[in-house]
Amino acid sequence: MHLLHRNRTLRRSAAIRSMVAETLLTPNDFIAPLFIDEGEGVAFEIPSMPGYFRYSVDHTIKEVKTLWGMGIKSVLLFIRCRDEWKDNTGKEAWNENGLMQRSIKAIKDAVPEMVVMTDVALDPYSEFGHDGIVKDGQILNDVTVDALVKMSLSHAAAGADFVAPSDMMDGRIGAIRQALETNQFTHTGIMSYSAKYASCFYGPFRDALDSAPGFGDKKTYQMNFANRLEAINETMADIREGADIVMVKPAMAYLDIIREVKNAVTVPVSAYHVSGEYAMIKAAAQMGWLDEQKAILESLTAIKRAGADLIATYFAKEAAGMLA
Ligand code: PBG
Repeated sequence: MHLLHRNRTLRRSAAIRSMVAETLLTPNDFIAPLFIDEGEGVAFEIPSMPGYFRYSVDHTIKEVKTLWGMGIKSVLLFIRCRDEWKDNTGKEAWNENGLMQRSIKAIKDAVPEMVVMTDVALDPYSEFGHDGIVKDGQILNDVTVDALVKMSLSHAAAGADFVAPSDMMDGRIGAIRQALETNQFTHTGIMSYSAKYASCFYGPFRDALDSAPGFGDKKTYQMNFANRLEAINETMADIREGADIVMVKPAMAYLDIIREVKNAVTVPVSAYHVSGEYAMIKAAAQMGWLDEQKAILESLTAIKRAGADLIATYFAKEAAGMLA
């Protein structure tokens, strides 16, 4: 044979392969989600997320210091609300002494440079486990947006660097942006869950926070997983309304969407490698059916290759450890 190109030339050794690698994972890429609980000395391993914990604030601080030391620049906070404080208004969500607000302050005090992002949605605070206010079995849009605005302002006041609305109500990004501006929170960013699908892969997360919907599902606000163009419409609307970073969620079954969004926008794109995606790898590894470390690096590299500039992943620490 007289071939002009032998594609295997660039794969011949580890050194050559690394020289021509198109995608390089670094700890800068990762956003580490954290589940926070009331109390002290609490470290509860989430049954459907082996190796992942819900921590009280004291342990959370230790974890944040560890993550910062490993080169991870950002955490995304979720809290578990006590049942007795849940209702259909979500008012605990903007309690200035609430668990989220105390956690933001404690983290910013301990590691000021850590970029603190906060989940904005009513589900952990809702007696119905829905992301919005419920009336006659419906999730109301506009009154929910009013609540999300109060929640966002209280996170900004506590020192959050970015609020991350994950609720999928219409018009919430514009309303939050306007409220931040009129209240002098001019440097608080918005990372919008723009293309968030109604997915079965959120199951373990709802265990972590006791936030499973009490009736029905989330299909009247989260997107139908059959749709592609809708993801672009949602994302463009959020950018017009003032989102700094947009997100596609989940990640691995949505790599096509990540790429299309990446090609359509000029703001940073994040992807959420969700709880069920974590659980799948962990479970297969526990059975001895997959090499966990290889599965993690391949998955995260694929998500970045698809177009994610940032990846929210429960493997952030494990991956940063492997990359070191
Ligand atoms: C709540 C929220 C969810 C997740 C992030 N924010 C669950 C849901 O929408 O039901 C899922 C994260 C994960 O599964 O890792 N609005």
